[in-house]
Amino acid sequence: MPSINKTKEGEKDDHTAYRVAIRQVNSRMDGQHNTGNLLWGASRIMAYWIHFNRDLFKDKKVLEVGSGLGLCGIVAASYCKEIVITDYQELTLRALEYNISINVPWVEENCDESSITCAYNNYEDCIMVQKLDWDKELSPITIGSSNTTRRPMDVDIIIASDIICEPSTAEGFLKTVKYYLKPCTGVAYMVNANSFSRFGVNRLLEMLKGI
Ligand SMILES: C[S@@+](CC[C@H](N)C(=O)[O-])C[C@H]1O[C@@H](n2cnc3c(N)ncnc32)[C@H](O)[C@@H]1O
Repeated sequence: MPSINKTKEGEKDDHTAYRVAIRQVNSRMDGQHNTGNLLWGASRIMAYWIHFNRDLFKDKKVLEVGSGLGLCGIVAASYCKEIVITDYQELTLRALEYNISINVPWVEENCDESSITCAYNNYEDCIMVQKLDWDKELSPITIGSSNTTRRPMDVDIIIASDIICEPSTAEGFLKTVKYYLKPCTGVAYMVNANSFSRFGVNRLLEMLKGI
């Protein structure tokens, strides 16, 4: 259960703990298809980074890809306007939904109200879990509950932690960024293990040089 010292803007750091509960999937990770069953180190680093750079998320529409158990997306949800948290495995998506449901009261309690335009008693309008497989054809992201009109989301920020593994994941990630991110102003933030343990990192760097 990661814990972050959280203060609201303008307040002195009073070391109030901001706890996020994450339940992992209770079955053995036996291959690339279920790496989302575990919480990876990069997501802890990114969750802290989001918290300490929360101003970047104010009023922003955020997409998390390859979310796994959802730690980063759940922390970002405290600070952004709306967020769609995605993965491609059914078991992971169910774990994600569960983790969001147990954290929403804390997201609500911890959020800086001035930066939140959504009402968390109707949180399905601004935090959603969706399936997104970057190896398949992509389609527009929508947000909003069945009670309200679902609307397409222009993505201001994409976040991702430890999603670059083999070279094809670098290709899938860049394809996703190009497809969803708002041109000119959109920003993608990523924390990943380096090329010693993730072959795809060099492929990503090579592709980024060509942009
Ligand atoms: C190493 S895990 C990292 C999970 C999480 N971001 C973390 O840091 O704890 C890689 C994630 O990428 C997801 N993933 C792998 N291939 C994918 C694809 N083609 N489309 C979408 N997600 C994918 C996996 O399901 C998994 O959740």
